[in-house]
Amino acid sequence: MRSYKAKTVEPISLPSREKRNRILEEAGYNAFNVDAADVYVDLLTDSGTGAMSGEQWAAMMRGDEAYAGSRSFHELREAVADVMGFSRVVPAHQGRGAENALYGVLVEEGDTVLNNAHFDTTRAHIANQGADPVDCPVEGARDPTHDAPFKGNFDLARGRTVVDDVGAENVPAIVVTITNNSTAGQPVSVENLRQVRELADEIDATLVVDACRFVENAYFVKEREDEFADWSIADIAREQLTYADAAVMSGKKEGLTNIGGFVAMRSGEYREDDGGVDHDALFERVKQRAILYEGFPTYGGMAGRDVAALAVGLREAVEPPYVEDRVEQVRELGDRLKEAGAPIYEPVGGHAVYVDAGAFLPEIPREQLPGQALVCELYREGAVRGVELGEFAFPGADRMQLVRLALPRRTYGREQLEHVAETAAAVAERREEVSGLEVVAEPPMKELRHFSAELRPV
Ligand code: F0G
Repeated sequence: MRSYKAKTVEPISLPSREKRNRILEEAGYNAFNVDAADVYVDLLTDSGTGAMSGEQWAAMMRGDEAYAGSRSFHELREAVADVMGFSRVVPAHQGRGAENALYGVLVEEGDTVLNNAHFDTTRAHIANQGADPVDCPVEGARDPTHDAPFKGNFDLARGRTVVDDVGAENVPAIVVTITNNSTAGQPVSVENLRQVRELADEIDATLVVDACRFVENAYFVKEREDEFADWSIADIAREQLTYADAAVMSGKKEGLTNIGGFVAMRSGEYREDDGGVDHDALFERVKQRAILYEGFPTYGGMAGRDVAALAVGLREAVEPPYVEDRVEQVRELGDRLKEAGAPIYEPVGGHAVYVDAGAFLPEIPREQLPGQALVCELYREGAVRGVELGEFAFPGADRMQLVRLALPRRTYGREQLEHVAETAAAVAERREEVSGLEVVAEPPMKELRHFSAELRPV
């Protein structure tokens, strides 16, 4: 049930079909090159694109812009302690800034870092340290039709095999990303986190949780993990994080803000069996690196007002009406897309519906980028913007050909969901006519090509 109403509005409009065709051509068939004003329903990302509450805007006005020791920082520290259970926080300008501050001190050249599945920026930061990021997805995670409650889980057996191969001393960190963005927003069970904790203790590794979407994960835990059926979302949200030594957070997701992030950490005395991790030393080192790259450790690259809004947003994110509405809205979009004839990754995850473009456009071979072709047709048909996560974004990788339709938080209503479904239905109707694409210009760094490459129909 919708748990908010509009107080401030932002106009959106649907450009004419003729204009959409022209825009697509001028954008080189790359939705990143399309102006937001020409998009009717923007599902490119759920990151920083949601609506803030009146309470958050009020907090913005009260934000303390002091360089050091601002009141807003203390509000954030208290919110992180109450909502996430971590007593220490190092703010950063956004999630990847937090990743740099943490992995920059935790990971060294030649190391291996395990993750249920690395998000792009996480992978890049580990690689940037000269280390090897290794994904450990569970069986079935990459099968869009496999039905299981926790397809985001970390595969312990795979993790142990990698540890045996590279040597425990070369694995300084294990990361668990909740929910698992690179696996269709699938949740991770608390039981799985407990097991990963055991592995981390065995090998004296630091266990990091990438907590961007930790509340959506808690919602699925309550729904699917019997032990937690009677727990509150807020309690589950905190419980999940008790297994971690540290968390990296992008406030742009479940901080319900447009910018911001942080590293959160335990203090030394918190956990006795902490697997040999010296929390005090880690905190000091992260803080020093954050000063270099982010800013003084009480603002970390955010304006004081953004810190203040983040403190309020974190508390709002664990309120049951908010999170129920959030996850159910994403699920509703999935149901509508299915009814419209679009094959989707199932079960639907927490922040986005991932359309299986390979199955949607079976005539288009992988080299002709079926995912990107679908992104373009969704724009052409209804000015709907999604993002390709297949051969175009990850050239040469053995991945599913998916298109992610991520819902910004507290932003769109049922009418827009209907529009997206109608758009998908219209594309499905003429799917035989849809042509594949080829890249005509791309930047030297192929890993980043989907942000700026230009394409044309083949
Ligand atoms: N970790 C995960 C799991 C993410 O999904 C993201 C961002 C980050 C870290 C980095 O955070 O953007 O604040 O620097 N995901 C966005 C997305 C960009 O569209 O999925 P950031």
